[in-house]
Amino acid sequence: MTPDNPIEQARQWIAAATRVAALTGAGISAESGIPTFRSAGGLWRNFRAEDLATPRAFARDPKTVWEWYDWRRGLIAAAKPNLGHYALAQLEQRLGDRFTLITQNVDGLHNRAGSQRVLKLHGDIWWTMCIACREVRSDFRVPLPELPPRCASCGGMLRPGVVWFGEPLPGATWEQAEEAVRQCELLIVAGTSAVVYPAASLAPLAQSHGARVIEINTEETPLSGSADLCLRGPSGEILPQIIES
Ligand code: OAD
Repeated sequence: MTPDNPIEQARQWIAAATRVAALTGAGISAESGIPTFRSAGGLWRNFRAEDLATPRAFARDPKTVWEWYDWRRGLIAAAKPNLGHYALAQLEQRLGDRFTLITQNVDGLHNRAGSQRVLKLHGDIWWTMCIACREVRSDFRVPLPELPPRCASCGGMLRPGVVWFGEPLPGATWEQAEEAVRQCELLIVAGTSAVVYPAASLAPLAQSHGARVIEINTEETPLSGSADLCLRGPSGEILPQIIES
């Protein structure tokens, strides 16, 4: 049953909850001009994300994979956080450690909007990792001078510091995300197609521990049927409405 005023309903649930968690996906950055993965604009040279974001693709053709990341790094560097990112940063300010932000995004826009504590399930596009010595560094150069880039310590080939399909998520980060979702009374799921696991398992986990789930998305997703409330529309418009006091 849809309440008469779903925005007001969401505001009440947020106000009443002691612990709130949010899970975000590429859709929250769409209004910043960053194409989502599963939209037409997300295709790069006709590759799908699943063709490029894999260890196999990198082993076969590291230069092409890096060219894709270099292109995305350029888009992200030129982008700015939008009102959805800022609203979640405001919720963290209000609730402190009673709020946990979990993101599948690697773009760093939550940090740039002021969120202090972000659980990055899929890593960060501004991190590099050496495939030889495993050193992880931040590298904000756009474009990178050489593709694939080389490790400043050992000269080995660098890979993006992100999680690819078929790779495990960073263990400690995932455990903190699961814990936050088990503890919360309300989970806000914004801008994700809810098809990529294990991130997609967080909403059912929250509900199995008694939490309510609010979905914010411009379209229906596999989560829509089970969410306690679905708010249809752009997250940059809806999040400020439900969060701002
Ligand atoms: P997707 O591209 O799969 O889904 C984006 C979702 O955002 C879709 O459901 C859109 O309907 C929705 N959307 C688009 N614009 C929106 C807006 N303005 N406001 C609200 N919703 C909007 O992106 P993710 O779900 O993040 O993983 O994808 C999950 C993972 O798959 C990514 O982290 C990445 C990808 O391949 C890896 O690279 C491992």
